[in-house]
Amino acid sequence: MIGLLRTRRSIRKYTDKSVEQEKIEILKEAVLRSPSSRNIDPWEFIFVDDRELLKKLALCKPHGSRFLEHAALGIVICADSEKSDVWVEDCSIASILVQMVAHSMDLGSCWIQIRKRMYDDKTTSEEYIRSVLEIPVCMKIESIVAIGYPAESREPLKRHELKDEKVRFNSY
Ligand SMILES: Cc1cc2nc3c(=O)[nH]c(=O)nc-3n(C[C@H](O)[C@H](O)[C@H](O)COP(=O)(O)O)c2cc1C
Repeated sequence: MIGLLRTRRSIRKYTDKSVEQEKIEILKEAVLRSPSSRNIDPWEFIFVDDRELLKKLALCKPHGSRFLEHAALGIVICADSEKSDVWVEDCSIASILVQMVAHSMDLGSCWIQIRKRMYDDKTTSEEYIRSVLEIPVCMKIESIVAIGYPAESREPLKRHELKDEKVRFNSY
């Protein structure tokens, strides 16, 4: 696992190659194996590979989402907030785990933040995505994870670049 963490970077440029069905099945398994508080599993996942839908989703906020247009896959990670008060944590865990599993299969990925983001002055990113994908109002949207074969290579951080001062022992 540490080997995967050492080489993972956010990838925002993708080749045209689609993701093989076997890999999609593994990504499905990854999200469904994500741990959730009290094992409630409040989350649901919408796998989007339709190019027209990806293009629409890429417009969900003014910055930081356009690259989704060229991804092979977008996984919309949402949850029923009535089922769990820690749905944000549950969705976040699923978001990062699926990124790590994607990386383990040589796929690039990037988290697109949706919760608390705006589509425009009046509409939240969540409301916009809800209308594109017909998601019921009870579902809150945490993120979209964009996935595809990398068309960029990014240097992993070197050990000495990590912020060691962020870690303390026994007291602050
Ligand atoms: C909670 C969260 C939200 C993020 N939202 C976005 C986003 O909306 N758009 C984007 O391009 N990258 C997003 N990222 C990716 C970060 O910008 C990226 O992880 C960070 O710059 C570190 O780079 P690295 O992932 O290559 O190590 C997000 C990452 C996290 C953890």
